[in-house]
Amino acid sequence: MTPSDVAFDQAVDLLTAGELVAFPTETVYGLGADATNPEAVAKIFAAKGRPADHPLIVHLPADEFVQQWARDIPDVAWEVMENFWPGPLTLILNKQAWVPEIITGGQDTVGLRIPGHPVALELLRRFAARNPKGGIAAPSANLFGRLSPTVASHVHAELGTQITVLDGGACSVGIESTIVDFSRCPPTILRPGHIAPAHLAAVLGVELRIETAAGAPRVSGSLPAHYAPKTPMRWIKCTELSHELKSSNKFVLLGHTPAWAAQADTLPPNQTKILPNNPIGYAQALYSALRSLDDYGADCILVEPIPETPDWSAVNDRLRRAIASSS
Ligand code: TXA
Ligand code: MG
Repeated sequence: MTPSDVAFDQAVDLLTAGELVAFPTETVYGLGADATNPEAVAKIFAAKGRPADHPLIVHLPADEFVQQWARDIPDVAWEVMENFWPGPLTLILNKQAWVPEIITGGQDTVGLRIPGHPVALELLRRFAARNPKGGIAAPSANLFGRLSPTVASHVHAELGTQITVLDGGACSVGIESTIVDFSRCPPTILRPGHIAPAHLAAVLGVELRIETAAGAPRVSGSLPAHYAPKTPMRWIKCTELSHELKSSNKFVLLGHTPAWAAQADTLPPNQTKILPNNPIGYAQALYSALRSLDDYGADCILVEPIPETPDWSAVNDRLRRAIASSS
């Protein structure tokens, strides 16, 4: 699905005039503004209800823009960019002095990403043709703390129909980018995503640290409560499901194994979501599934536990945070 030439031009006109435009990336939909324009960026915070000290990712069309935004870039960071961009990976780098504070949340670093979605890249290229620094700041296009949108209609559901959205169809990755902080030594994964630590380590030949401390919220997604539907959620083992279903509560179910699907069979189809039994397919479908389960208006979303293996870590991370928000 590709927007028309006119739609791209209108989007660039709006961004250049300091207005917001939502656009698809391969991870989730972003809510974009001209990253060099603090008043435009302030509109993102207002639309999302996002605290002002939470920094934003700047999206770029190509490598040659990186040094306009970041300085003292280590060789390993260049290597990572070469291997994983365009793609679902954000690098935290030391910022250039001019980068607006509203982008960085007052920190000395800036988050940069070249997304892989063709619509995002086309928008970024056209924007850069008129705006020499080429940066579009974009958080996920949802209200603060809520589920990220993975299709255009979710953006309207979150932020209202007045927001201009470039429609690029469903996001192929479905969860937010992996974030690696290269301003620290060793490089540190701040948010797990589609690109796994083992893949990064194999390319770099160095182990990365994985941030676990729930310290200051440098990354808003690192707050324990985040990425959440409105309906409370909790884990429930497959073996305990049939017992639970006998209670009088109004449940909806989220599972992924054949054994769970067999148990869930007793409920009407709109009360259960069976996602692919692999981490890539599961991540891709997760937010849409949670959104439609949320719409059902149940007392609780019962979630089948996820394997505790590294390949499932990003999915586990998002579900844990969503469940933490419920309690
Ligand atoms: O996949 C994604 O990353 C999507 C798409 C639209 O690119 N964007 C996204 O943005 O998830 P957002 O704002 O929802 O999450 C970006 C995270 C935030 O938690 C923010 O705190 C962190 O990146 N971040 C941005 N700049 C940072 C910095 N300088 N230091 C540490 N964390 C930073
Ligand atoms: Mg977000």
